[in-house]
Amino acid sequence: MNFQLTEEHLAVQEAAREFANTELLPGVIERDTEAKFPTEQIKKMSELGFMGMMVDPKYNGGGMDTISYVLAMEELSKIDASASVSMSVNNSLVCWGLEKYGTEEQKEKYLKKLATGEVLGAFCLSEPEAGSDATSQRTEATKEGDYYILNGTKNWITNGSSASVYLVIAQTDASKGHKGISVFIVEKGWDGFVIGKKEDKLGIRGSDTHSLMFTDVKVPASNRIGEEGFGFTFAMETLNGGRIGIAAQALGIAAGAYEMSLAYSKERKAFGKPISQHQAIQFKLADMATQIEAARMLVYKAAWLKDQGEDYAHASAMAKLYASEVAMNVTVEAVQVHGGYGYVKEYHVERLMRDAKITQIYEGTSEIQKIVISRGLLK
Ligand code: CAA
Repeated sequence: MNFQLTEEHLAVQEAAREFANTELLPGVIERDTEAKFPTEQIKKMSELGFMGMMVDPKYNGGGMDTISYVLAMEELSKIDASASVSMSVNNSLVCWGLEKYGTEEQKEKYLKKLATGEVLGAFCLSEPEAGSDATSQRTEATKEGDYYILNGTKNWITNGSSASVYLVIAQTDASKGHKGISVFIVEKGWDGFVIGKKEDKLGIRGSDTHSLMFTDVKVPASNRIGEEGFGFTFAMETLNGGRIGIAAQALGIAAGAYEMSLAYSKERKAFGKPISQHQAIQFKLADMATQIEAARMLVYKAAWLKDQGEDYAHASAMAKLYASEVAMNVTVEAVQVHGGYGYVKEYHVERLMRDAKITQIYEGTSEIQKIVISRGLLK
């Protein structure tokens, strides 16, 4: 067993850290306050290769492993989880499935542009009445000759208005339940595709989360990924990998809040000495650091299993469950360490606390992760 990162991994980590501090940190508070999408920052992330890190270079990707990806996600999420969720969705929920299951034609047309970040992707599974209960899809795609006619509504879609390419899960044969669900590539601008309202959120306020409406949208049959009926398996397999990205995001949020707390505790004085010299604060720091390290081990292990070609569904659910709980605990404690300063925007930790909450909800709530984990244990 070897816990050391390679030279390449350390270089990716360093590049992401540097980028986060120089490019994401300036303006992150304003983007959160104004709910402003980090357009310029995502453009620069694309130029640095962060948007298609694991895609084969023949489709313009970085050809990197999952460990590199989680290291980058962790560093960027320490500063700006709104930018990192956009990156996570593009990498894990859009590029991964297209590369694994798309046709050569689909990869040429869509993946090559997604992998460079020239265009952004979105993953459209959730609906007003199908969040955790993802098999209850109401969006329908009806075959008519060489096309499918798509009708329905999707909710809480990350990159909702900034994306150009949407992977849309829809029912093609309701009589077969989840085995009658398929997945389609839909382009922004097609007739009948309307981007609905932007959500006004508690956290990750810089990311653009929208509802999407499809009314008689004509989707070429050649834009279906895989066979009819493959869509639910596609979504579940995609989310198994996506959850590693969100676990890394949660880890980064926790680590960012901890690092700020550690630095602050050495500067801030109370009762005649830095608060880091008070045992009440020392014990908080010890708990935070220990939880973060345990979460890091789960996240890296899930990424490593994926890189080894092993089954990682169980490990990714565990990593996301635990890392998101740690993100919530640690950020609450970080606000406490900062006292009154922690409650105001200038000190960042209140934003990280608000951002942490979504990691327990999206890409499968903590309760869904427990379903996935316990089913794995009992099968
Ligand atoms: N990996 C692979 N296959 C899986 C799977 C997994 N983790 N979980 C379930 N499946 C398969 C099952 O094996 C089954 O296949 P077969 O019928 O061929 O045997 C099929 O999926 C249906 O599974 P179940 O019978 O267990 O169905 P269920 O309704 O009891 O449970 C669920 C399914 C696990 C709860 C699933 O609905 C689920 O994961 N829900 C959460 C959905 C989710 O994560 N949504 C996130 C939205 S995307 C998002 O948030 C992106 C963003 O913007 C950041």
